[in-house]
Amino acid sequence: MPHPLEELRDSALRDIAETQDEQALENLRVRYLGRSGSISAWGEQMKTLGKEERPVVGKLLHEARNAVTAALAQTSERLRAAKEAGALAGLDVSLPGTAYEAGALHPLTQMLDRAIQIFRRMGFALAEGPDLETEWHCFDALNTAPDHPARNEQDTFYLADGRLLRTHTSTVQIRTMETAAPPLRVIAPGAAYRRDEVDATHSAQFHQIEGLYVDEDVSVADLKGTLEFFLRELFGEDTAVRFRPHYFPFTEPSFEIDVKSKALKGGEQWIEVCGCGMVHPAVFEEVNRARSDLAFDPEKWTGFAFGLGMDRLALILFDIPDLRLFAQNDLRFLRQFA
Ligand code: PHE
Repeated sequence: MPHPLEELRDSALRDIAETQDEQALENLRVRYLGRSGSISAWGEQMKTLGKEERPVVGKLLHEARNAVTAALAQTSERLRAAKEAGALAGLDVSLPGTAYEAGALHPLTQMLDRAIQIFRRMGFALAEGPDLETEWHCFDALNTAPDHPARNEQDTFYLADGRLLRTHTSTVQIRTMETAAPPLRVIAPGAAYRRDEVDATHSAQFHQIEGLYVDEDVSVADLKGTLEFFLRELFGEDTAVRFRPHYFPFTEPSFEIDVKSKALKGGEQWIEVCGCGMVHPAVFEEVNRARSDLAFDPEKWTGFAFGLGMDRLALILFDIPDLRLFAQNDLRFLRQFA
């Protein structure tokens, strides 16, 4: 007659062999080998056995444990393999895969990268400021009179709380000077907003690269040299650059810059790309007042500032006829710059 421990082992092996899922298998492991499982219970019982019986039961117990442990492992592996086979059953490995399409940088971004590289070589650092601005940063601090037409609601997007969408990136000049001290040399690329009639060369949102250079003895010659160098690096050696006297409240003297190049679309036509000038002492004074110090003492420091029209630069650089294309997300257009 088989020992009860042998019967227990055999019934465990039968149960395990029939198991069809992992949870049931775990339940069996607990039932037989768990701390209060029925095979483990025999271990407890050993203490109560007589001298002759103990080694016999000990051997059987050892065998039963090993056999059940091995069967559990084997069944677990069988269930895992079956599950995997099930998951792969519906998979047709001969089907073509999903092609991965790599993107490319937007032409405006490419143009910006090139511009940043050129200014970086001249020692300019990157600065930034928010698109949503206070009237002070956009106009007052930039020496713009309370009745200046640029403040007009017809030109500027105002929020109900009095803030506005910056009409130019010159706000970053002020943001920079509020926290840094001269000498400084920064560029700030970013969006600007005006209530313009949208057409091939105007958009309600456009992009500028602002520049600000403040040091001792900065002159118009520095301004001219810096911007001429930049434009020739960007458009080529044979680019003609023209400075026209202009008016901005925050620079004096002020200029607009036009470029003309054989390599450019239009060939013989001057294209306006930049506003610039020497920082007006009134701007330094207003910044000092806001900082309550004399960090930008106009007796000691001079500087130049400029605002390059990025969209215009990109139109010229890539020979694009209409800046509305930049925002339309048309792949037939964008692919040409990939
Ligand atoms: N902020 C001016 C504009 O948007 C450009 C400019 C920048 C002019 C810096 C002078 C100095 O037209």
